[in-house]
Amino acid sequence: MKISTPLPMPNDEAIQHSQYLQEKIINEIADHEGYIPFSRFMEMALYEPELGYYVAGKNKIGSQGDFVTAPDISPLFSQCMANQCIEVLNELLDGSILEFGAGNGNMAANILLHLEQNTSLPHTYLILDISPHLQAVQRETIERLAPHLLEKVHWITELPSHFNGIVLANEILDAMPVTLFEKTKDAYWTLGVSLDDNQQLTTQKRLASKDLRASLEQLKINTDSSSYISEHNPHIRPWLNSLYQMMDCGVVLLIDYGYTRSEYYHADRTMGTLICHYQQLVHDDYLWFPGLQDITANVDFTAVAEAADNAGLNVYGYTPQASFLIANHLETLLMQALENKADEQYALSQQTRTLTLPSEMGERFKIIGLTKQWDKSLQGFQLNNQLHKL
Ligand SMILES: C[S@@+](CC[C@H](N)C(=O)[O-])C[C@H]1O[C@@H](n2cnc3c(N)ncnc32)[C@H](O)[C@@H]1O
Repeated sequence: MKISTPLPMPNDEAIQHSQYLQEKIINEIADHEGYIPFSRFMEMALYEPELGYYVAGKNKIGSQGDFVTAPDISPLFSQCMANQCIEVLNELLDGSILEFGAGNGNMAANILLHLEQNTSLPHTYLILDISPHLQAVQRETIERLAPHLLEKVHWITELPSHFNGIVLANEILDAMPVTLFEKTKDAYWTLGVSLDDNQQLTTQKRLASKDLRASLEQLKINTDSSSYISEHNPHIRPWLNSLYQMMDCGVVLLIDYGYTRSEYYHADRTMGTLICHYQQLVHDDYLWFPGLQDITANVDFTAVAEAADNAGLNVYGYTPQASFLIANHLETLLMQALENKADEQYALSQQTRTLTLPSEMGERFKIIGLTKQWDKSLQGFQLNNQLHKL
C-alpha cells in the first residue's frame, strides 16, 4: 500500500511492543487457517488487552500524541456540548450524562465545569471507556481541572439500565473495527490479513460470503472502476440496539467525521476512507507496526440513521459540527472567553476557526441526534438540520 508521508521510525521499546502484538496476531492467523478478516485485525491492533493501540499506555490524543480531537482543541467545543446538555437536563428529573470513550477526559471536565456554572449539574457523569490507560488519564484530567466535581464521575464497564439523560460519543464510531471489502467487475471480496513467505503480515482477499455480499449489495455502489475498495461498520447496529435497550428516556449525540451513504460510497472514492494516524501524520498502511498507530474509518451516517430507526430510536437531526456549535451559542462563549482571557485572543480565534471552518472540522464532522421518549426540541439542530440528506 502507498504511504503518503515518510513515517519516523519508532524507538526500540515501541518496536518491541509492536512485535509482541504481531506475535499474537500471527498466532491468531495460524489458529484460523492462515487468514483473519480485516475487522479482527483492526480489533486486535486497537484493543488487544495490554497491547492494542488504545489499551496500552502512551500519549495518543493531543498535540503530543498521534492526533487531535475537538475537546483537545478548545474548551469551547465542550462548553457548546454542555449548552446542549443543559437543554436536555432541564427537561429531565435527575438526568445523567454517559460519555463513551472519553479520551483524555477534557470534554468531561469542561462539560462539568460549564454545567456547574449554569447550575445544571447532572445526577451523575458516567464514563464507559474500553481503555484502562485512558481511564487513568481521564481521572487525572478531571482531578486537575475540576477536582471538586470528581465525585460526580463514575467509570463503568457495562451499560447501566433505565438510563435517563444524554449519551455523548465523540469519535467513537470511527474507532470501531470495520469490514474491509473490494468490489470488482463481477464479485465482492472481503479483505483480510495473512502471512507472506517471510512470515510478515500481508493483505489477502477472499470471496465474500453470501451474507456479506447481500449486505454490501444494499449499499448500491455504482462504479465503473475495476477495483473499488471500501469499508462497512458491522458494529453500529448492535451498539445502537444496546443503547436503545438501556435507555428509558433521553438523547444520544454522536459526533464524528463521515458522510451520507451516497457521498461515502461515491463512485470516485475507489480507495475507501480507512486511514492511520501516527505522530500527527496520516497514511494508509494499516499493517505498519500494529499497536503503535491509530486506524480509523469514516462514518456512514445513513447506516447510523437506519440502525437507529431499526433499533426503535427516533432520528431527530443531522447537522455539520459548525452549525451545531453555533446553534449552541459558540459566539457568546467565544465573547465571554475573550473578555476573561484577553491575552489568549489569537489562540481562541484559531481554535474557533479549526472547530468551524468548512475546510477544517466545521463540515467534515457531523452530529447525529437520536432520541427515545423525547418530544422536545434540540437546539443544536435548529439552525441547519440536514436530516433529509441521510
Ligand atoms: C478516537 S478516541 C476519541 C476520544 C475522545 N472522545 C475525544 O474526542 O478526544 C476513541 C476513544 O474511544 C474509546 N473506545 C473505543 N471503542 C470503545 C468502546 N467500544 N466502548 C467504549 N470506549 C471505546 C477509546 O479507548 C478512546 O478513548
